[in-house]
Amino acid sequence: MDVLTGIGDMQVRAERDRLAGKTVGVVPTMGALHEGHLSLIRAARSACDVVTVTIFVNPKQFGPEEDFNSYPRIFDRDLSACENEEVDVVFAPEAGDMYPEGFSTKVAVSGLTTLWEGEARPGHFDGVTTVVTKLFAITKPHRAYFGQKDAQQVAVVRRMVRDLNFDLEIIVCPIVREADGLAMSSRNVYLLPDERQEALALFRSLKKAEELVASGVRKSLDILEGMKQLLTDTEIRKRDYIAIVNPDTMEPVETLEPGQPVLVAVAARVGATRLIDNTIVTLAE
Ligand code: PAJ
Repeated sequence: MDVLTGIGDMQVRAERDRLAGKTVGVVPTMGALHEGHLSLIRAARSACDVVTVTIFVNPKQFGPEEDFNSYPRIFDRDLSACENEEVDVVFAPEAGDMYPEGFSTKVAVSGLTTLWEGEARPGHFDGVTTVVTKLFAITKPHRAYFGQKDAQQVAVVRRMVRDLNFDLEIIVCPIVREADGLAMSSRNVYLLPDERQEALALFRSLKKAEELVASGVRKSLDILEGMKQLLTDTEIRKRDYIAIVNPDTMEPVETLEPGQPVLVAVAARVGATRLIDNTIVTLAE
């Protein structure tokens, strides 16, 4: 496995692989790799000749009050995990090389980035689309792998790829959960034991939504009401949002139509930790 930190070195390597006719799969991450990340790496490994994992805690996607400084950094363990998954290249650039003095460009998707996560985290998606654009330009993927865990990030990146004609395919992999249902996240390490239990309410509220839809409820307000009850019965009072939306536009859906998938998304603070989770549901035809 090659570990590259230089942007030029990475570009040369990617170009060489492409010219050799190899399919390049890229998994962008911020490190602190867990089974969720590994599922993306495995999907890439099974479909691509060359698998590149990028590890970069991107300062531009964290707000001033957010956890950039405390974000878990366990580079050596991440490298062993990548080695185990037979990753070919790890690209781990320095922030100073990604954003040198005078860096003055921003890639911004409008509209869907102002809703939900975008509203709770102003500027977050501009940071994501800017870094993802750079990572694509540097690692030159044929296929790039993203997790459904960050459903709005998927919608935003897909829109950017479409709008800017990036010549690559976005592959989305399902949410990987702990045995009890908690969605895996690098931020779960912040949870104290009690909070770890309380955090399950997010998953339970999504299960509730799935049950209500399975029983034929089609008004979003009714589904949201059932979820709210469940969330307020627990300790989770600092709910950022719960939403039932079109998964491509992130616009609210008032009434579920048979056969039309909707995204049910929740964000809440458990203690000091901000967690997100979601599920896609479809009313039976
Ligand atoms: P990060 O949070 O490290 O996540 C990297 C990728 O792993 C994302 O596509 C995310 O959706 C996916 N992922 C995280 N937890 C998952 C889970 N439980 N199941 C399935 N996939 C999961 O997302 C980012 O980094 C950054 O915004 C990035 C795209 C790297 C840009 O900086």
